[in-house]
Amino acid sequence: MCGIVGYIGHRNAVSVLIQGLEHLEYRGYDSAGIACLNRSSHAIEVVKEKGKLAALKNLLAGRDLSAHAGLGHTRWATHGEPSRLNAHPHLDNSKRLAIIHNGIIENYAALKDELKAKGFRFYSQTDTEVAVNLIACYYSRSTGLVEAVLKAVKRMEGYFAFALISREEPDRLIAFKRSNPLVIGFGQQENFLASDVSALLPYTNRFLYLEDDEYAVLTARTVEVFDLKTRKPVKRRPVEIQWTIAEAQKGGYSHYMLKEIYEQPAVVEEIIKNQVKPGGRIEFERMSAGYRAKLRKIRRVYAVSCGTAYHAAIVGQYMLEKYARIPVEVAVSSEFRYEDPVLNSEDLVVVISQSGETADTLAALRIAKQKKALTLAIVNVVGSTLAREADFVIYTHAGPEIGVASTKAYVAQLATMISVTIFMARLRRKSPEAELRSLVSEFKKLPAACEKTLELAKSIDRCARKHSHRKNFLYIGRGYNYPTALEGALKLKEISYAHAHGYAAGELKHGPIALIDNEQPVICIAPHSKTYAKMVSNIQEIKARDGIVIAIGTAGDDALDDMADDFFAIPKMSEIFSPILAVIPLQLFAYKVSVLNGRDVDQPRNLAKSVTVE
Ligand code: M6R
Repeated sequence: MCGIVGYIGHRNAVSVLIQGLEHLEYRGYDSAGIACLNRSSHAIEVVKEKGKLAALKNLLAGRDLSAHAGLGHTRWATHGEPSRLNAHPHLDNSKRLAIIHNGIIENYAALKDELKAKGFRFYSQTDTEVAVNLIACYYSRSTGLVEAVLKAVKRMEGYFAFALISREEPDRLIAFKRSNPLVIGFGQQENFLASDVSALLPYTNRFLYLEDDEYAVLTARTVEVFDLKTRKPVKRRPVEIQWTIAEAQKGGYSHYMLKEIYEQPAVVEEIIKNQVKPGGRIEFERMSAGYRAKLRKIRRVYAVSCGTAYHAAIVGQYMLEKYARIPVEVAVSSEFRYEDPVLNSEDLVVVISQSGETADTLAALRIAKQKKALTLAIVNVVGSTLAREADFVIYTHAGPEIGVASTKAYVAQLATMISVTIFMARLRRKSPEAELRSLVSEFKKLPAACEKTLELAKSIDRCARKHSHRKNFLYIGRGYNYPTALEGALKLKEISYAHAHGYAAGELKHGPIALIDNEQPVICIAPHSKTYAKMVSNIQEIKARDGIVIAIGTAGDDALDDMADDFFAIPKMSEIFSPILAVIPLQLFAYKVSVLNGRDVDQPRNLAKSVTVE
């Protein structure tokens, strides 16, 4: 979704803003712009353009802009088409103020009518231009900008974060947050603002996340944060984030997604290092005895998430039910939040999210808390909103994931789910300790098995070449690998734009089998498992109808190899590990098909990395 960068200090703001926006490109956007404050000219200069940052940089190439402060934005259209006019920043009618904004002002139409009646004119279709004029409407030298912002915010409904500069108060940036993420970065005689930390990693690793209904005033030397209701200063210590800028770069790979696929063995290794202690104990950093005691009393789990994280939740359901013998319900956050779920203090609501900022998942978490359920967040981004608001957070330690298509974050969620499962099984004494111990020792072999699976890349390339022209793919799996089928299909459709549908293999006869002919590829995920024989029957049914079978199976499964048109072998491990291994060839397949079709792998059309609006 939209990206925000703000800067004030001793450097030329233009290059900080552009560099910051480059690091936010992964979030997905369709136009970009900057607004700069120059002390000597006493003017705000705005440069913006539709399309990618390259277009904005072209416009800037001919300009000699120097500025000590400014705002930068990448826009993902909500109100009004992607265009230069609708791109941010937006100026108020008198050109005194410039704003950048993420989120949605739900009552913007009514506010716009009111402002029009007062003589304000609008040039874009955005709710953002309404916001800046509303602030301008309350702004005078005597009231000052902060007061004007606070008055305007009282009138604005919805979920938003914004940053503002004024040519009349050139030594400060003002920022406000409600629901959409905003983080302040601390420098030496310079300060920064951004919608996520990756924009600021080249400059600082000290950050302060704004909470809802907090506003901040930044100068080059100071940062002040206030609570909207009390107007009192907020005293919170900045957090240090250990991600390096190198981790957020491509490191020789042609795409972030490919780099992130190859990082998976290391990600699993890191999780094991963090969560598996000597003697095979599973421990989660900072879990209190009180929280542990509450977990012991839990009678039911809800796993709530979106997209890829939802697939991780389904895998988690199968794991927890088998080993911890606890009932688990899985829900898509956007449904859960409006379903009026029946929850109480004996329920554990687990929210799973890479970004920790997904609007629907955040709403689901808040509902769970209102209903007094115990909450647990499994999140990648340290300090993100879900991480801060949940009763307890387990970080997935995958490092920054830049490719819009989630890969290593998914594998990290699954690996973390394995730890959570073993932990819960012990807590509830529901599986024989010998069995859990043997899982822990096998878990330690998982990074090497992931590494081995990556060796399939060349043969997957060949398979992708045979099928990259096709427009329809089916994915089927059972048990732990039913969600693998969903995830494989999601990966392919989001980055190649081919239609791909994942099914529980048992559902084949209930409809999708009608699609099978000699043009229909079916990706069958069939490693050894308790439903292996059923998968083989499904594959035979597909072959009997001339379908094309691309099979993922266990190494040494010659029978499946003979049956399939293409066969990819993953290392032999217990079933619980198979969704991690089986998804790797599917990620590689989707990647290759996307490249062969000339798609934008890392920033596929219409998609955003972090979905911070409903
Ligand atoms: O940041 P989150 O994990 O909460 O994001 C959830 C989904 O938006 C995300 O997984 C999305 O489906 C990805 N593009 C999938 O590759």
